Amino acid sequence: MKKYILLTGIFLTLSAGILLGCSAQASLWSEAEVELMRSLWIGSLPELPPDPSNQFADNPRAVALGAKLFSDTRFSSNNEVSCATCHIASKDFQDGLQLAQGVGTTDRRTMPIAGTAYSPWLFWDGRKDSQWAQALGPLESAVEHGGTRAQYVKLIQEHYKDEYEALFGALPDFSDESRFPVPAAPIDDDVAAANWAGMTEADREAVTLVYVNMGKAIAAFERTIMPGESRFDLYVEAVLANDISAARDIFTADEEAGLKLFLNEANCTRCHNGPLLTDNDFHNTGVPAVADLPEDTGRARGAQQVLADEFNCLSKYSDATPEDCKELRFMLAEGEELERAFKAPSLRDVANRAPFMHAGQFATLEEVLSHYNNAPDAPNGHSELEVLNLSDAQLQKIMAFLKTLTTIK
Ligand code: HEC
Ligand code: HEC
Repeated sequence: MKKYILLTGIFLTLSAGILLGCSAQASLWSEAEVELMRSLWIGSLPELPPDPSNQFADNPRAVALGAKLFSDTRFSSNNEVSCATCHIASKDFQDGLQLAQGVGTTDRRTMPIAGTAYSPWLFWDGRKDSQWAQALGPLESAVEHGGTRAQYVKLIQEHYKDEYEALFGALPDFSDESRFPVPAAPIDDDVAAANWAGMTEADREAVTLVYVNMGKAIAAFERTIMPGESRFDLYVEAVLANDISAARDIFTADEEAGLKLFLNEANCTRCHNGPLLTDNDFHNTGVPAVADLPEDTGRARGAQQVLADEFNCLSKYSDATPEDCKELRFMLAEGEELERAFKAPSLRDVANRAPFMHAGQFATLEEVLSHYNNAPDAPNGHSELEVLNLSDAQLQKIMAFLKTLTTIK
């Protein structure tokens, strides 16, 4: 009986809320728009799914070790570069540069890290399929950290032996220079590759296993980096509570109009959807090529690279079963739509991240929006965009809205 009264009470309160809400909202947001907004709201972010390819992904000790490795500049060829050189915590874990500067200069712009644990593909071209496999890329890139796995495992032995062993078990002894020369790695460098080829299979395997575990610890740390609540989220909360006057205290008229355009005429949510405002997929949006850089085919090459990657989900270094690797096994590997397709980035905190696009092609959000409005032909492949024909005033409103996606500090 008591339960019945309680349920009736809840029912009456809810229906009253819906009725009142509908009338207050009718002029502003349709039901479909409210549902779309709810799907973009940070409160819709599901719990972080496990990473079956990394059994240490949620281990607090791995998080602590990973955080140290992330900012340790000894893991580089010149003692000056760490992940944190380019992924700067106070700058939304990126660097604000057009092209990243490590030991050399990269061909692409640094990506932010918040929320990437939700992404099945890493890098602008998705050539890695886990955060731990991704971390092993820059460490051996000639223009980023510039070192080799043989150098790094010795540093682990010297500086992190206890922390490493508490997590991953006994560390092999890498001190014999004749068995473990530096540099050594299966990379595109004559000396490193020759040294690597000269090692026994078992010694190479011992080095690579420790290297992989470094990646798994770094990934555990990266899983803790998440975007925070923005003014947009507060606005959605007010709309969901049917409190339009509270909503209007949060957004200016321009921001509200910009949101409406973002959801409708500008159709940005075709690709920037879900609570991270990305579909985590690859699209050719006709972003211009940069004259001095080598040709970039984007996902067309990235798809082939992730299939061949020595550290992918199906590799022997992954802790996953083949059933866990559905993304990789059923990925789109070929097709014209992959040509110059790049990963749609999250738009959370985007206003703090100029310059924009995979090689920092646009200096300002004005340039980004004018690109979307004009939808130029792609330098290669076909752009998925359509001309928008929005006025400058409308573009300004979308821009005002994009600035509401900044995390409230
Ligand atoms: C020299 C600067 C530099 C250094 C050092 C560096 N990165 Fe990056 N990072 C980049 C660039 C540039 C990209 C995009 C590269 C690409 O797509 O080819 C990137 C991409 C990423 C991504 C992909 C994000 C996404 O949304 O797909 C992650 C994660 C990441 N880096 C983590 C790391 C970690 C971990 C380290 C250290 C082991 C590291 N980075 C070292 C510049 C750097
Ligand atoms: C067809 C899919 C698609 C649509 C539609 C789309 N985007 Fe994008 N967006 C992308 C992709 C892919 C990139 C990265 C492209 C690159 O770097 O070459 C991107 C990049 C961006 C960036 C730069 C982010 C950064 O960190 O560099 C902004 C800002 C942006 N989009 C906003 C918008 C807005 C606003 C709209 C609606 C007017 C929109 N997008 C519509 C796919 C799309």
